[in-house]
Amino acid sequence: MNSWEQLKEAVETLANGGLVAFPTETVYGLGADASNPDAMERLYKVKNRPVTHPSIVHIGSADQIEDWCLEVPPAVEILAGLFWPGPLTMVLKRAPGVIDAVTGGQNTVALRVPSHPLAQSLLQAFGRGIAAPSANRFGNLSPTSAEDVKAEFGNEIMVLDGGSCPVGIESTIIDLSSGIPRILRPGMILEASITVALSGVGLRWQTADVNLPPRTPGSLPSHYAPAKPLKLISSLELENELAHIIPGGQKVAVMSFKKLSDNILHQVMSTSPAVYAFGLYRSLRRLDKSDADVIVVECPPLELEWEPILDRLKRAAGPRDIEVKDGT
Ligand code: TXA
Ligand code: MG
Repeated sequence: MNSWEQLKEAVETLANGGLVAFPTETVYGLGADASNPDAMERLYKVKNRPVTHPSIVHIGSADQIEDWCLEVPPAVEILAGLFWPGPLTMVLKRAPGVIDAVTGGQNTVALRVPSHPLAQSLLQAFGRGIAAPSANRFGNLSPTSAEDVKAEFGNEIMVLDGGSCPVGIESTIIDLSSGIPRILRPGMILEASITVALSGVGLRWQTADVNLPPRTPGSLPSHYAPAKPLKLISSLELENELAHIIPGGQKVAVMSFKKLSDNILHQVMSTSPAVYAFGLYRSLRRLDKSDADVIVVECPPLELEWEPILDRLKRAAGPRDIEVKDGT
């Protein structure tokens, strides 16, 4: 099948209430028609995701914002102008027609215009919003290639293959539904860039409140996690930690900025945050498939541009026993 025929089949599948996995610049999404409750039910079942967790609606261009939300505050116009199409998701007050299956019953809706050419072609051809969580089962690492999606779902689902996702981690999510902007999930569009962009609008910012219930599964303590236990260790402690673990008989796989020993399975990472993010999930998947008992990750620098990467690593290292994985 050529790519045109594949796109046509993808559009027909979505229009018939089916699911299509497709590439975005961040990670692969598992798409369903965002105005079809049956399609949304299918999506949540396949993903094994609690129905109370909302999904991002992907739209082809900012012109469609008003179909989905009640009002478009000036901040939204500024951010859409600067960062769309791209890896930014905005949470806004939902329009009355938006179905509960998309919003998880909340009074807000999350919108994003992805920049990946194949995502754009799909959205233009479909003409409506596509709800798409990352194309992995709930709690697992997000897929960054068509092979990753197939490893997760087998041949159960149609996958449009757009190669490797260039950003590599999920979009930044900003809540603009209340007049007090709040970053719900850090991403490669940094909070600092957004703050600068919105400095003229005179908004009061709210820092994340740890006592709020998790409206985003990404804010559960353990999420974006490999199957093996993961330890996040500071550069200074790294050699000590290995000297402690290895004699204890545990096999270790290490993700670090430099190779430490020829006898340990290593993934050497870039010191550039963008390149690190591009390889993060791919590298974790590789180490997760190895015969190691534990993955040890050297903590990146505690600097602004590393924040989204640190966030994912902390969640991957987070306590597993609090995680909601059973769809409740
Ligand atoms: O980069 C991305 O955002 C990828 C690609 C496919 O676009 N999508 C993605 O979707 O990461 P997902 O569902 O895995 O994560 C989206 C997060 C979820 O944690 C969800 O709870 C949150 O966005 N979310 C969606 N709608 C929301 C809303 N109305 N209010 C608050 N959070 C919302
Ligand atoms: Mg996800």
